[in-house]
Amino acid sequence: MRIDIITVVPDLLKSPFEASIMKRSIDKGLVSVHFHNLRDYVTDNYRQVDDYQFGGGAGMVMMIEPIDKCISALKSQRDYDEVIYMTPDGETLNQGGANQLSLLKNIIILCGHYKGVDQRVRDHFITKEISIGDYVLSGGELGALILCDAVIRLIPGVLGNETSALTDSFQDNLLAPPIYTRPAEYKGWKVPDILTSGNFPKIESWREEQAYQRTKERRPDLLDD
Ligand code: ADE
Repeated sequence: MRIDIITVVPDLLKSPFEASIMKRSIDKGLVSVHFHNLRDYVTDNYRQVDDYQFGGGAGMVMMIEPIDKCISALKSQRDYDEVIYMTPDGETLNQGGANQLSLLKNIIILCGHYKGVDQRVRDHFITKEISIGDYVLSGGELGALILCDAVIRLIPGVLGNETSALTDSFQDNLLAPPIYTRPAEYKGWKVPDILTSGNFPKIESWREEQAYQRTKERRPDLLDD
């Protein structure tokens, strides 16, 4: 998968791709990530990418021209499956959405800043609008990182143990069951006997039951879907 991220603050984005799973996905050649500073697509001396709102109102708006230039330059080089805009009024990201995006080949992610982008950008260039939750961030960059992390770990070959993404919370609309590791007893707190019994069919049904109970208690809305 190729991910092109358009931003006014590329420095906010880079280091998470230099560690852990996201780095590994790049090192393995499964993902490539490219950052585009919107200011490189502006011709005026001040490298201004935003301007006042028509009709008045607080906050600056990102102008259409540099965004058009950047997206058009990218599109002239390859086809893109989606041009995503990170915005709090987009569709809320969930595991199903991450699964779908993980199947794509080329995506562009546009990070909003200030009050957001000129509506004509959304009308004419954007194919998908994503929010990471009902709260407002200072910009789309941190949301874009969360989106990238959620998507990249689902790409086949990225995680060492191929099955581990399949047993994540939300994969079956269920939260993950409790997990334990050694020691089997710590300060008198014991791991449930079933997990050390060696009876794998029983362990599997215990996990399913626990996942169901945890979902019922914490996220009953998931069971409605
Ligand atoms: N930009 C600002 N807030 C955001 C959010 N909640 N999700 C995605 N992008 C954003």
